Amino acid sequence: ELTQLLDSHVREVPDFPEPGVLFRDITPLLADGPAFAALVDALAERYRGKVDAVAGLESRGFILAAPLAHALGVGMITIRKAGRLPGPVTGVDYTLEYGTARLELRPETVTADQRVLIIDDVLATGGTARAAIELIEGAGARVAGLTMLLELDELRGREQLTDYPLDSILRY
Ligand code: PRP
Ligand code: MG
Repeated sequence: ELTQLLDSHVREVPDFPEPGVLFRDITPLLADGPAFAALVDALAERYRGKVDAVAGLESRGFILAAPLAHALGVGMITIRKAGRLPGPVTGVDYTLEYGTARLELRPETVTADQRVLIIDDVLATGGTARAAIELIEGAGARVAGLTMLLELDELRGREQLTDYPLDSILRY
């Protein structure tokens, strides 16, 4: 089964990036050809014909967004960290565990009423995903859904996203 295959390639790293945190490392999954292909194929099957663009969140979201957009035959929208995109850009500040960060979008890369799928590697507190929603909607497009490779239930990011279809492949 897909979730078992993918889960078997997620490495648990205790005390990373700091003591007491159990980090879920997806690099073995990405490095495994059949597992990575199975993931992208399953996502493509799920969303084929249902979305007009795939938005990836810098940086780890890009790894998933690009092959999925290609498989679906739609464009990829790059939502980037502050200061990376040439203007004009719109930006949204969001809260991290320590401090704040900012994501930016070139609104010209989306069109009105486009159905956009937001994809990222991990849903933790949901701050990153919320900022992405605000950017896409602020540019006049629609968020058709969000998909996350991995959801960390105890951080309760899902509660921030109740108005949107949210699919997580793996939940911990
Ligand atoms: C990580 C992860 C998600 C986000 C989830 O990204 O890739 O994008 O945090 O956290 P949240 O739900 O609490 O917002 P990070 O900002 O560490 O950057 P990276 O993708 O560039 O590694
Ligand atoms: Mg990220």
